[in-house]
Amino acid sequence: MAHSVSPTLQVLLLISLASSLAKGAVQYNVVSYGAKPDGKTDSTKAFLAAWTQACASTKSTIVYVPKGRFFLRKVAFQGPCKNNAIVLRIDGTLVAPSDYKVIGSSGNWLIFEHVQGVTVSGGTLDGQGTGLWSCKASGKSCPAGATSLEFTNSNNVVISGLTSLNSQMFHIVINECQNVKVQGVKIMASVESPNTDGIHVQASSGVTILNSKISTGDDCVSIGPGTTNTWVQNVACGPGHGISIGSLGKDLQESGVQNVTVTGATFTGTDNGVRIKTWGRPSNGFARNIVFQHLVMNNVQNPIIIDQNYCPDNNNCPGQVSGVKISGVTYLDIHGSSATEIAVKFDCSKMYPCTGIKLEGINLTYKNQPAEASCNNAGGACL
Ligand SMILES: *[C@@H]1O[C@H](CO)[C@@H](O)[C@H](O)[C@H]1NC(C)=O
Ligand SMILES: *[C@@H]1O[C@H](CO)[C@@H](O)[C@H](O)[C@H]1NC(C)=O
Repeated sequence: MAHSVSPTLQVLLLISLASSLAKGAVQYNVVSYGAKPDGKTDSTKAFLAAWTQACASTKSTIVYVPKGRFFLRKVAFQGPCKNNAIVLRIDGTLVAPSDYKVIGSSGNWLIFEHVQGVTVSGGTLDGQGTGLWSCKASGKSCPAGATSLEFTNSNNVVISGLTSLNSQMFHIVINECQNVKVQGVKIMASVESPNTDGIHVQASSGVTILNSKISTGDDCVSIGPGTTNTWVQNVACGPGHGISIGSLGKDLQESGVQNVTVTGATFTGTDNGVRIKTWGRPSNGFARNIVFQHLVMNNVQNPIIIDQNYCPDNNNCPGQVSGVKISGVTYLDIHGSSATEIAVKFDCSKMYPCTGIKLEGINLTYKNQPAEASCNNAGGACL
């Protein structure tokens, strides 16, 4: 308690923060531009109009979404803007079309492009993905689905206190961005929902994901090619497919993944805990300087796994040999329970064995007995 701040001082700090925001920032309320909080009226144009004003302002701005449900089709929040401090503050819920034909083929529902210094704060995104999931489960031909929220080609982004429900496809995507902080987000979709990754990061640097709770049908967090300097801390994952680096090595020419830390995560009933996954195909990609530490596994199928033989339907993987070089992976202080006998599985490339794999303080049990490890072509591990 030595560093606690008195309640009075806290209130004063909050007031001064609120007034400094109010003083500096110009506010654009989407309702003033014709948005209706009734869950049915199409508010797409109103949101775009408010954004256009905010983006054209030379002062810092707030686009404000009050309580209520706002129905939106695809919205592209385009930059560059005239200022580098725009907050999209959401008290209500943004609702996607439940008919997947409306945005299911357009890749995205809400997308920010070429922006600097944008914060999305609070609110709920309701992706209404269940119709598309049923279509996919029925084996009919269906659109791929839309990502609920994406930032692309953007810098200095914050996503804070957001809830994302039932996305058609990925919930949040960070693509070709620098300096992104995602904190206090809640992500939820059915364990049966296909490709509903929680947070997908690719071709980005300086991404931090903190204090978030993710339950979904695919990876809780997935880290794709070209991602560097990424920090994931205090994430509760499950159900879902765990936290994955990959899939890597689908392409022959591919940027690598470097300096990724996952620390203090809890996995509950997930398919995987921490996974590195590469296609069994030729590639010049790599994954290096990866740290997985202070993790708790609760009944996880594959708590620790490297799988370099990913090849769905055994298609287009000549010889099944991955070109992706995996090196310098540290697993530190990982404990809890495995749902299978093999808790640690390293299945590395025959041509480019994994090197510099370190395991320390690993205590995983299966049915209350020490679990086992299995290694192929993994240097430094399974000693
Ligand atoms: C690794 O990434 C962290 C952020 O996750 C950053 O603070 C650190 O400087 C990076 N290290 C190197 C060697 O780039
Ligand atoms: C490993 O975990 C089990 C179950 O939590 C515990 O009983 C055991 O003492 C631990 N072993 C070590 C070496 O820490």
